[in-house]
Amino acid sequence: MAINDHQSSYPMAKKLIGDPIDRIDGKQKITGSARYSADIKPPRLVHGVLVMSTVANGRIQKIDISATMNVPGVVAVMSHENAPKPGGLDKNKPSETATDRVMHLFQDNLVHYNNQPIAMVLAETLEAATEGAERVQVTYNTDAVKPLLPANQNKAERPERLPRVDDQVDTKRGDYKAGMAAAATRFEQTYLTPTQVHNALEPHALVAVWEPDGKLTLYNATQGISGCQKRIAELFGMPKADVRVVTQYLGGGFGSKGTTWSHVMLAPMAAKLVSRPVKLVLKREQMFGMVGSRSATVQQLTFGADKEGKLTASGHFSITQTSDFDEFAEPSGTITRMLYACPNQETTHRFIRANIGTPSPMRAPGEAPGVFALECAIDEMAEQVKMDPLEFRLKNYAEVDPNKNLPFSSKSLRACYQQGAERFGWSKRSPQPRSMRDGNYLVGMGMGTTTYPMNRGESNALVRLMPDGRVQVETGTQDIGTGTFTIVNQIAAEVLGLTPDKVTLSAGDSRYPEAVGSGGSRSTSSTGSAVTQAAKEVLNKAREMAFKDKKSPLYNVAEAEIVAENGRLQLRTDPKKGETFASLLKRNGSKPIEAKVQSKQGDEKEKYSFFAFGSVFAEVRVDEALGEIQVTRLLGTYAAGKIINLKTATSQVLGGMVWGLSMALHEEAKFDPRTNRIMNPNLAEYHVPVNADIRSIEGYFIEEDDDVVNPAGVKGIGEIGIVGTVSAIANAIYHATGKRHRAIPITVDNVL
Ligand code: MOS
Repeated sequence: MAINDHQSSYPMAKKLIGDPIDRIDGKQKITGSARYSADIKPPRLVHGVLVMSTVANGRIQKIDISATMNVPGVVAVMSHENAPKPGGLDKNKPSETATDRVMHLFQDNLVHYNNQPIAMVLAETLEAATEGAERVQVTYNTDAVKPLLPANQNKAERPERLPRVDDQVDTKRGDYKAGMAAAATRFEQTYLTPTQVHNALEPHALVAVWEPDGKLTLYNATQGISGCQKRIAELFGMPKADVRVVTQYLGGGFGSKGTTWSHVMLAPMAAKLVSRPVKLVLKREQMFGMVGSRSATVQQLTFGADKEGKLTASGHFSITQTSDFDEFAEPSGTITRMLYACPNQETTHRFIRANIGTPSPMRAPGEAPGVFALECAIDEMAEQVKMDPLEFRLKNYAEVDPNKNLPFSSKSLRACYQQGAERFGWSKRSPQPRSMRDGNYLVGMGMGTTTYPMNRGESNALVRLMPDGRVQVETGTQDIGTGTFTIVNQIAAEVLGLTPDKVTLSAGDSRYPEAVGSGGSRSTSSTGSAVTQAAKEVLNKAREMAFKDKKSPLYNVAEAEIVAENGRLQLRTDPKKGETFASLLKRNGSKPIEAKVQSKQGDEKEKYSFFAFGSVFAEVRVDEALGEIQVTRLLGTYAAGKIINLKTATSQVLGGMVWGLSMALHEEAKFDPRTNRIMNPNLAEYHVPVNADIRSIEGYFIEEDDDVVNPAGVKGIGEIGIVGTVSAIANAIYHATGKRHRAIPITVDNVL
């Protein structure tokens, strides 16, 4: 029986804010019994350590491994000279998606960027492999380094596409020039954001095992089990079913583990070379280049407004950088297209090519740098038209999506603004910059809008109601660390009227039904929807069974009147009338009831625009003598559809807000412009916030009952936390100091 969720006539108990239960794998993680990818130790394991290039552009002339081979325990060195040439590799074949890399390491002697893997030393111990890697001697023929942004910004190329399929590279609506010409007030500024590097606690790691039957098992720290399985099968020219990918635990990813980067191929290649299982764990400094980054951006923002402060035109022209061998264009202008009502608009995306590792999605790719620029520009424009920044935003509030010209399935941004402003005390802000003080400190208050699209891919799930009344769920999702496993259980439990401890989840393995990657805030919208649909189908089958069973107290009761609660099916109007799942199934052959569902986006996206929204308010103080910046308060209010688990959801948005603070004040990969080598490839010099940087931080959700958006009713919360926070802090710093900052990070040496 196929379930059309929107037309389901069965009443469901609907909880918009779900129970704040602990993670089901919290105990394993806290006690250290959780086995992450690098903890897997198959027999005869060999340790691989990468050797990285020390030039940015050129060819390897010679790799001298004689000193390496003298290190006791070294088994082999793999480089382009002896690496296997996997059958599925075709360097000229374009990648299918923008994160499906075309670079294939160790297939030729070319060096495209500094800190590129060029050899792998394999040894009996990690120590021997590390020592062996130190002793590899490489000579190069070098070429001139293709420089970074912004040096070449006037020669930018138009990318083929943006990383997300439904985002166009350029957009136009109305008549931008006429809209600017008609404006009473005009604005134009350029905003700069730096390269940032994902630094999940768990580095990239995998163990590759070729099974005796020629099949491959990868214990891989990946955000996308199914994507990795497909890509590796393709690269090795194998059937997908012969590649198994296992990811039981992940220590974060932030987009970096969403791509099957070249090292995921190198470990199985090496395992083939030495005919033993190989473990490859990236060192922290090796994560600065080969596994993606958030591109630096140069963004020009323009506005025109009439005498009332209504926007007549807007423009967002963005330039980013990509590698010299692959395309990734940070989609910075996409939110400007839809956030404010504005009849005339142009947006463009361009990039330059540099000798760097290919950039990639990083938590809220496009939105995080793009909305920093947009919401700082809005703050500046509000000042220019002499309006309060919040009032200016409300004046230009988009009732429908002006980009797609579609209604929003739901939009509670007004409520987010109002409740956020009230909780924060926005009315206590004195409008004039540099007008609020606390002793030596200049005090400022700022705000930013936040938003993130609801993305949904295709996920499969199996739900099985067992004769004892327990439930099994199978789905090939991974848990990036946010609590996906926990909330998948909660969803099945809620639909079937059980407590989550009655549900057992099998996931984290490509043996289970294929699910989407954990990226684009889409795990719950996709896999959560699949589980919702499968659990509803099981419920309906159980109701039908009761309805038809003469011995059931619910015999001949209209199925719509039967609800599931406390492990029982019972009459909605008379809960005492009913029976447990266990007794129903026992009388009916003690066989499980199961449903397997494939769930994906229907045509709703042609009728509605799906976005989560929120507001972020920030209070800062800046030491007038020393320039020290403190973010004393951060308050985010989000409307993102149904919230499955208030605890994990709050952690998600607070974590995002911490990253927003990090982006505003700390993070920057510093390149040596002569060599394009990142000079701070470690967590001592690549700054992220510490506990002392976070003072008061609060995240709230507004209930949103959206039954159009997807069967799970969720919009996704993985990325929205970071988006508006950067501008809220930058705007607060302006309000404190009277000095505008159009480049981040804002640091002690430039704040005043
Ligand atoms: Mo994310 S950058 O969608 O993992």
